Amino acid sequence: MEHKQLQPFPEDFLWGSASAAYQVEGAWDTDGKGPSVWDQFVRIPGTTFQNTNGDVAVDHYHRYKEDVKLMAEQGLRAYRFSVAWSRVVPLGNGAVNEAGLKFYDDLIDELVAHGIEPIVTLYHWDIPQGIQDEYGGWESRRVIADFTDYAELLFKRYGDRVKYWVTLNEQNVFISHGYQLNYHPPGVSDQKRMFAANHIANLANASAIAKFRELGLSGKIGPSFAYGPNYAIDADPRNQLAALDSEEFNAHFWMDVYTFGEYPVAAWNWLTENGLAPEIAPGDAALLKKGRPDFMGVNYYRTMTNAFNPLDGVGAGKMNTTGEKGTTEENGVPGLYKHVNNPYLEKTNWDWDIDPIGLRIGLRRIASRYRLPVMVTENGLGEYDQLTDQHEVHDEYRIDYLRAHALAIQEAITDGVEMLGYCTWSFTDLLSWLNGYQKRYGFVYVDRDETDEKDLARYKKDSFYWYQKTIAENGANLAVERKK
Ligand code: BG6
Repeated sequence: MEHKQLQPFPEDFLWGSASAAYQVEGAWDTDGKGPSVWDQFVRIPGTTFQNTNGDVAVDHYHRYKEDVKLMAEQGLRAYRFSVAWSRVVPLGNGAVNEAGLKFYDDLIDELVAHGIEPIVTLYHWDIPQGIQDEYGGWESRRVIADFTDYAELLFKRYGDRVKYWVTLNEQNVFISHGYQLNYHPPGVSDQKRMFAANHIANLANASAIAKFRELGLSGKIGPSFAYGPNYAIDADPRNQLAALDSEEFNAHFWMDVYTFGEYPVAAWNWLTENGLAPEIAPGDAALLKKGRPDFMGVNYYRTMTNAFNPLDGVGAGKMNTTGEKGTTEENGVPGLYKHVNNPYLEKTNWDWDIDPIGLRIGLRRIASRYRLPVMVTENGLGEYDQLTDQHEVHDEYRIDYLRAHALAIQEAITDGVEMLGYCTWSFTDLLSWLNGYQKRYGFVYVDRDETDEKDLARYKKDSFYWYQKTIAENGANLAVERKK
């Protein structure tokens, strides 16, 4: 629908930005931190672009004050970051590392002192290597208790200052990449194990939320889900069905469990038919029901366009992690769907479709199906940036991208979707897990590359100033700028 006039953003709208511990902190073995699965995985040659790792990353661990100062200068209202589990509980269970806890105390205090709302992610993919070795991490039900204890530790320690919590970041990504596609640790390629680990992660997520409720903490909690709303390539009913299947398997399969505590019917049936259904133990259903979140966190980057894929059709295909446009291979699930090119959409150099309307569509779908407020916990453009001799970065393309997506949120608000905030990805440049340092997302350029850490100096990009203005005007500039 087209609105005659857009409603303003709520006065308390959280204009924010986001990061994840492994991608920014560095200090991978400093002050008592234990190794995580990523610290080990990146040392296997060929797993990441040019074998990059987060040992130093952008050294946020030592430069957090400088970074928070920049956030304050920009007027940021919220900063979403993750706690590295193995920094505070080095082995994943047992002894607690006070120095690690203190780092996040200091970061939170610094944010609060600058009037920035901390949004804390409990888990952004870096499970401690200790419990990976001890019992197989997400593949053992023991992780449910360990994750809940870790969550409780953070709730109690930071709950007086933190009002927004994110449980698991992109469970759909770390589970599929870790246990089926073999892109992430632990580097497994086994569908049965994937669905089993996923079920355990669902239980851990629900258990942490149940603990939050039990402690009676004020504030809101929810997962961050990587949502790529699905389209059909055309009106051919077979392609429409493929889009429905992709939405069922790639969206409802997680968000239904978070919200209703139940798997969607067709997906569950398919798992059973194919001998892939996870084991449901007594008490699981009741626990999942306790996990209903206060909001749905959405990480939105792109939509997916689908076509019919027969039983002997395409399976997994290579991802583009090099930034050479057009190198993504066709991929899908035989008998369900395949992802195909959408001729209406421009793509990034990493072949991600650019689709701001898709964000509005996704927000509408969530509001209708789940009746929950939404927080966009990530959205941004990963691109090559050029630092000039004057230390400027003219990233007009990023401004265009962010403006269009923020406007899509305003349109969704006008449609009736309750929106809590918008966290761009990312505040500073950071390590893009598989894509090295050349795929940049930040408002702040960090001077380093794959082979040379250089001085890690911070430089404000043009997009930094554009977001500063957007926040100051509470988004009133967006529609005006579009009309120009
Ligand atoms: C999300 C993750 O998948 O997308 C982030 O939560 C990640 O950690 C971001 O960096 C962008 O993905 P990529 O692969 O371009 O770094």
